[in-house]
Amino acid sequence: MAGMVSVSRRTLLTTAAGAAVAATTTITPAASAADGLRTFRRTADYAVTKLRAVAPGVTAFPEITRFEKWTYSQNGGWIGGFWPGTLWLASIYSGDTRFRTLAMASAEKLAPRQYETRDHDLGFLFYPSWVTGWRLTGDEKWRAGALNAAASLIQRYNEKGRFIRAWGALGTPGNAGRVIVDTMMNLDLLAFASKQSGDRKYLDIAVSHAKTTERVFVRPDGSTPHVFDFDPDTGAGIGPDTVQGYSPTSCWSRGQAWGIYGFTTMYRRSGDPLFLRTARRMADFALRALTPDNVPVWDYLAPQAPYDIKDSSAGAVMACGLLDLAKVANRPQYREAAIRILTALCDTCLTANSTRAEAIMARGTRNRRAEDGVEVSLPYGDYYLLEGILRVLMPREIDRAIDLSSV
Ligand code: GLY
Repeated sequence: MAGMVSVSRRTLLTTAAGAAVAATTTITPAASAADGLRTFRRTADYAVTKLRAVAPGVTAFPEITRFEKWTYSQNGGWIGGFWPGTLWLASIYSGDTRFRTLAMASAEKLAPRQYETRDHDLGFLFYPSWVTGWRLTGDEKWRAGALNAAASLIQRYNEKGRFIRAWGALGTPGNAGRVIVDTMMNLDLLAFASKQSGDRKYLDIAVSHAKTTERVFVRPDGSTPHVFDFDPDTGAGIGPDTVQGYSPTSCWSRGQAWGIYGFTTMYRRSGDPLFLRTARRMADFALRALTPDNVPVWDYLAPQAPYDIKDSSAGAVMACGLLDLAKVANRPQYREAAIRILTALCDTCLTANSTRAEAIMARGTRNRRAEDGVEVSLPYGDYYLLEGILRVLMPREIDRAIDLSSV
């Protein structure tokens, strides 16, 4: 098999410290670009077969697996965009119109959320579902809903601190000054809103939030904490913290991946070279920290890192960001790294040997710090794995779905 590690897949799966195994083991790179493409096609075929079998029985929004079966969020939580998004991607790859129908039915269930101002996740919710829905179908209802969601999101902007508040209902004091690196992924909804409405205020807020994130999160070595707190009344910085990473001074790998992807996107949308430099610094840190098995450890700076549990979803998000970064920075080494990561995910993280599994990819970690969701499947892992593979196999179609253009 192309890109196969010369230890059995079983060994990597059953060894919590997979990095320890792989670090002392020779990795055989994909023999050729053709082998790499075959691996990606085989994985996309596997994904479509799995989705054909599982999707008709899915009743709400897959959130996390327990013993390989999806458990659901009824209203979509922060993850409700990924299931319709995955179905859109499956429809693109397979041409099967049943996926389109299922994607629309699932996206429709998010409708009440477009007016919500309770947290910052409106980009995660509405970009892969409604923005993509509009781009693929031309149906005005998806575009209008995404614009409403952007209008809801900017209500969370704190002028004094120049940040979008992550958590907590508006008007309540809890988390009022809390910013998280994940929010970088919600900004493209604002760029979309400015482009569609002709009103710059959405993009201005996105740029301003991204500048704040660069200023307070990114350390000299390119790593980031998960959280940074401000005084919400004065806008003065308080300091770093974490919720999903090991500590305020560590580097949660999925957060780092959100930053790589988000800063690259913001460079494309604004043209500000600061965001390109930031994406590169964050990518360079993560690539230095990546072990030879090419699957990120859950936190690059946790005490047991790199010999600790993995997060395949961090790898999938990071690979998408690196493919984008390679193009806009004109640096093929980022694309090569992305291909290595995607190949490793295809070779060592798929659920392919299980007859029970409902997801496409295993070995995800939701929140190791809270001991909540280790060695699980996650809907964002599946979504970004498929996005990454299709960015390689069908770049034009992916551009059509998610808009990879630059200003
Ligand atoms: N945005 C939450 C997470 O990545 O788990």
